[in-house]
Amino acid sequence: MSADKPVAITLNHLRKMKLQGEKFTCLTAYDASFTQLLDESGVELILVGDSLGMVIQGHSTTVPVSMEDMIYHSCAVARGRQRALLMVDMPFMACTLVEQALVNATRLMQEGGAEIIKLEGSGVQLEIVTELARRGIPVCAHLGLQPQSVHKQGGYRVQGREAEAARAMVASAVALEAAGADMLLLECVPTALAAEITRTVAIPVIGIGAGVECDAQVLVLYDILAITPGKRPRFSKDFMEGAGSVREAIGNYVAEVKSGTFPAKQHWFE
Ligand code: KIV
Repeated sequence: MSADKPVAITLNHLRKMKLQGEKFTCLTAYDASFTQLLDESGVELILVGDSLGMVIQGHSTTVPVSMEDMIYHSCAVARGRQRALLMVDMPFMACTLVEQALVNATRLMQEGGAEIIKLEGSGVQLEIVTELARRGIPVCAHLGLQPQSVHKQGGYRVQGREAEAARAMVASAVALEAAGADMLLLECVPTALAAEITRTVAIPVIGIGAGVECDAQVLVLYDILAITPGKRPRFSKDFMEGAGSVREAIGNYVAEVKSGTFPAKQHWFE
């Protein structure tokens, strides 16, 4: 190993950070140049999100994104990265059966360079998570608002506000951890519920619109750089405001997540 190559972040680092109460940061990336900036700014986890369907390809949802799309962008990100752990989304309907999930997770890792696979859902996904984990494939399970189910969930809405739905989400989190999930991601979940899940499971919990008590935060890069057209989601923040460069904006995001100043109350849901 060359002397100036940074030490690569592993799942063990992230687990240790949770244990020590130290927040870690995650941002989406879809190309090599932005990835290099994120890496140099100290972002620990980079997500090749299927949000690329919306921010790169111009679709109105993530549903049209294919395995080929994910692999193409994952390869570009993998080339730009030296230190951060690389997480890649399983696109819509790419893991409905165990065999299919194993084949597609293998492709994301072997062809795309993924080090952890993120998939939306619980329930029927438990069997898939169990099998992936049994085969040594790291998994992050995405709960709460699941953009691939936008049509079923009736839009981009906060999830888990009713007592029964909240109880079900805690139970799903516990079941996913027991099935072998290595991380959880909670999207648009009331802050108290996200805090309860974060305390309940031993694995790291990443939040987006899920309050400040999660172990880590993730946002869509184009949202924080104010590139995304239209209204920015309430849980996000324009980090370009007051920053002299993209590099400074990303640095400010990292600093605010680590100090616990982002997210603030106006970014949470009750
Ligand atoms: O695809 C994506 O960018 C995501 C984030 C919203 C967490 O899943």
